[in-house]
Order: sequence, then C-alpha cells, then structure tokens
Amino acid sequence: MGKNWKDEISTPALVINYDIMQKNIETMLKFTKENKVNLRPHTKTHKCPVIAKEHLEIAKRLNAENKGICVARIGEAEIFAQHGFDDILIANQVIEPNQMKRLIELNKTFSVKVCVDYEKNIVDLNNLASKENVKMEVVMEVDVGLGRNGVQPGEPALKIAKLIKKQPNLDLIGLQGYEGHLTAIKDPEILKRKAEECMQKLVDTRDILNKNGFKIDYLTAGNTVSYKYSGKVDGITELQTGTYIFNDEHYYRVSPEFDMAVTILGTVTNNPGNRYYTIDAGLKAATNDNGNPIFKDYPKCKIRVMTEEHSIIRASPKDNFEIGQKLELYPSHICTTVNLYDFFTVVKDGEIIAKWDILARGKNY
Ligand SMILES: Cc1ncc(COP(=O)(O)O)c(C=O)c1O
Repeated sequence: MGKNWKDEISTPALVINYDIMQKNIETMLKFTKENKVNLRPHTKTHKCPVIAKEHLEIAKRLNAENKGICVARIGEAEIFAQHGFDDILIANQVIEPNQMKRLIELNKTFSVKVCVDYEKNIVDLNNLASKENVKMEVVMEVDVGLGRNGVQPGEPALKIAKLIKKQPNLDLIGLQGYEGHLTAIKDPEILKRKAEECMQKLVDTRDILNKNGFKIDYLTAGNTVSYKYSGKVDGITELQTGTYIFNDEHYYRVSPEFDMAVTILGTVTNNPGNRYYTIDAGLKAATNDNGNPIFKDYPKCKIRVMTEEHSIIRASPKDNFEIGQKLELYPSHICTTVNLYDFFTVVKDGEIIAKWDILARGKNY
C-alpha cells in the first residue's frame, strides 16, 4: 500500500476536500446566477483570503456575479483589505470607539461598508469620518425577525434613514436583513413562507424609504438554509451566505445540497478498553456548541466526552481502531471550529495540494 495523505499530517488538523468545496461554491453561484442576484460570500466561515480568491476564480469561470465579500468584524476587514479585497461589507455594527477609528482609517484606502442601526453610532461615525475627511458607505440593518441587530422595519427604519441622510460623510446605500432565526426549520413549506415574510419586511421598508425621497435598491440577506427562498424574492439583490462553502454536520441536515468539505483529522492515542478510545482532537480542535462532531467513516462511533486536548469515543463492536490510526470527523459548527486553526491542509484526489493560512482567525476584535 502506498502512503496515505493522512500519514503526512500532524494532528489535530483541519482538512479541506478541494473538490467538494469547489462543488459547493459552484452550487451557490449557479443559484445566484439563475436568480440574478449578486453573491457576496460571508468569509467568516473560512477567514482565508486564498479561498476568497479561489471563489472569485470559480465565479469568473461560471460568469456569475461575485461582487465583494462580507466579514463579521473590523479585524477581519483589515486582513482581507491587506490581501487585495476592496469591496467589503462588515455585516455587523462597529460600535466600540477604537474599532470605529480603524474603520474610518480603512476607508481612506478601501471601500469598507458597515451596518448601522443606532442613532449615536451613526452620529459618531459621521463625526469621525468628517474629522478625517473620509466619506463612507453604510448599510442600514433591519431586524427581519432574528431579534439580534437592526432597526424595526417600516417607520422606525425611516426615522434612522433620515438621520443617516443628515450626515454629510455617510452615504446610505442599502438595507441588510439577516434571517438567521430560520436555520433550524426543516419543513420546506414553512421555511419558504417564513423566508418570504422576512424578505418582504426588507422590501416594504425599501418602498417606504423610496416613497420618502430615498433611492435604495440594494437589499442584501440570506443564509445557507433559507437562501433558496430568500434569494428568489423580488427585490432582493444580493445573498451574503457563508457556511455553504464547507457546510457542517449541523447544517447538512437542513441543506444537504452542500456536501461537507472539511474534516478534522485526529489520531487514536489510547484504548482504555470496552470499545472506548481516546483521540487527540478535543475542544481545542473542534467546538461543540452545535453538538459533538461525528465520524466520517464510522457513523456508529460516537464522541462521549470532549476535554481540552482529547475526545473519548465509544466505537461500535465492528470498529477496531489501532493506536496511531487517523480518523476524520465532521465538525458540527464549521465557523467556530475554523477559528481554532492556523491553516487548512487542502487535499485533492488523495494528495495534499496546498496549505492555506487562516489569516483572519481570531481577528474578532
Ligand atoms: C449577518 C450575517 N449574514 C450572513 C450570514 C451567513 O449565514 P450562513 O453562514 O448560514 O450562510 C451570517 C452568519 O452568521 C450572519 O451573521
């Protein structure tokens, strides 16, 4: 038997199956192209400029619109800007004063838009921007039901929009509505109805604004579960999905059109007996906020306990592992798991083809 790619990797490790990732990107881009919306991928899933560039290449090949990227944090925006991305939407608010200053600084060179929803933040951003002689674009976030960020749709949104209009250094370019509370819905009919209701709130708010003298047509929304309905609503011009690129065990149950492209590779380090084994991938190798990771090739083998450095697993009677054997697991929450690693190992056709640095990991400040 020849050498296996797993033998070449020090564990725990994060491994991308290139072909699956590529297929996931193509699946999302084919959807957005068919539905004539832009795809602004949310890079909080991979945090890796090389992957964002790979995404652009695939979009170019498919002749699909892939304008700009989303990030979650100012620190991520800085990394992607340093690596050549000039159309960045921070799909979140930047409220902390030091971070606001960094945002204005970035806008001296790059176009880094931010979501706003709060009066004082809007005035503060404008004051800082005018001090530095910077003009910047902002997107108003509308709460379409998640109850996390955003102004309420309709009149409250109009009031905030009017406040933004009064700020000479801010330019309101569109509305964001993130329907993240729909991601657990399995019934397609319910999901469709709820996604449409959420998007309608965004469209109606746009109409109220435009009746009051605004000229808004940029509406950005979507997640890896409800995108297939949100992206079809008339008026939605952009999807800002992220997880689809890798998917994970949690989302795979509701969005199986995206196969799982990333595994955690661990090594069996002990066999305490009675079908229990210890592997070297614990909570520093995989998060379990969405449940424990599952084994790729051993569906009946389960993680019983996760500690910092180890997981204790219980194998099925058929699974006889050897100490030193390498096992692949599917993460249950890919975005928080990626944040634990310095780099991805990329595998294609059974060969390691690259090592990609996760440069924006931990840049959530
Ligand atoms: C504001 C915002 N937009 C888009 C997304 C992307 O969602 P998903 O990763 O399900 O595609 C997220 C995910 O957390 C988000 O917070």
